[in-house]
Amino acid sequence: MSDKPSYLGLLNAIAVGERRGHEVLSAWCEVCRDPELADVLNRVAIREREHAAAFEKRLCELGYGIRERDNPVFAEALESARSDAADAEKFRRVLGYQASDEPGRDDPLARIFDDRSIDAASGALLGRFICEERDSERQLRDQLQRITDAGRRIDDAGQSGDDDQQLADIAARLDRLAETIEQLKQLRR
Ligand SMILES: [Fe+2]
Repeated sequence: MSDKPSYLGLLNAIAVGERRGHEVLSAWCEVCRDPELADVLNRVAIREREHAAAFEKRLCELGYGIRERDNPVFAEALESARSDAADAEKFRRVLGYQASDEPGRDDPLARIFDDRSIDAASGALLGRFICEERDSERQLRDQLQRITDAGRRIDDAGQSGDDDQQLADIAARLDRLAETIEQLKQLRR
C-alpha cells in the first residue's frame, strides 16, 4: 500500500483555490468604490493568501509540491472582479452568492474530516481553515445584505419622491381649477 497521504489532493486543491481566491478578491478590492466592502474584501483576500501559503508549506513538509490545474471558472471570475459591474452583481458572478441564499446549506467543508487518516498537523491547519472560511463567508454575506438593503432604501426613496411630485401636481391642478371656477362665477355676476 502506498504511504502517499490520501488527502494530498485536498491540500493541493485548497492551496491552489485559495491563491486564486486571493487574486480575485484583490482585483475586486482594487476597483471597489465602497470603502466598507473594500475593507472586507481586503481582509478576506489577505486571509486567502495566508491559507494558500500555509497549505503549500504543509504540502512541502509532507514532501510534495503544488500541482496547478487549469480552471476556466477562475479566468471568468477574475474578469468579472476587475469589471465595472455593480458590487451586488459581482457577489453573484464572482462568488456565486444570491441575495436570498442561506449560508452553509450545502457545506463541502463539513465533509473534510470524513477522512480519518488526516495527520494532526494537517488536521489542525484544516480546522483553522474551515472556521476562517466560514467567518469570511459570514462577513461577505453581511456586506451583500447591507448593499441590498441600501439599494432597496434608495428605490423606496425614489418611489416616495415620485408620490410627493404627483401630489404636488394634483394640488396645483386643483388650485388652477378653483381659480377658473372663481373667474366663471365673477363673469356670471
Ligand atoms: Fe477561501
